[in-house]
Amino acid sequence: MLISKNTSTCTHDVVSTDRLPPPRPQNGNTEHRLCRLDEIDDGASKEMTVPDSDSTLCLVRKGPTVYAYVNSCPHTGAPLNWDGDQFLTWDGDMIQCAIHGALFRITDGRCMWGPCLHQRLTAVPTIVREGVIMLANKE
Ligand code: FES
Repeated sequence: MLISKNTSTCTHDVVSTDRLPPPRPQNGNTEHRLCRLDEIDDGASKEMTVPDSDSTLCLVRKGPTVYAYVNSCPHTGAPLNWDGDQFLTWDGDMIQCAIHGALFRITDGRCMWGPCLHQRLTAVPTIVREGVIMLANKE
């Protein structure tokens, strides 16, 4: 696959995408557009609907890199967000579950405090190409 100079990929561990339906290819592509990178402020988070699914994602932008996780806490399966796009602690350093306050590292989704200690959020592979965040298919 030819990738332009403006492309960066998330390098954090991908735990599983089994809970997500595969995105339908669009015009032969195996990636699915989520949103533009500049729709998420640097250091902020955003809730995104998964195409053709009832699932939502938690996206967190750190500079040119986007971390994406299924919006489901490993403790109970409840959504992580406080409200809409609010997934992060007040200082933006961790993802925090709104139900019991578990804290997850942004870079790999590992729980560092809370009832699901050391479990991980389900990472979703993404790619940023020419300023657009794409959901990358497993294929
Ligand atoms: S549901 Fe997330 S910490 Fe309990």
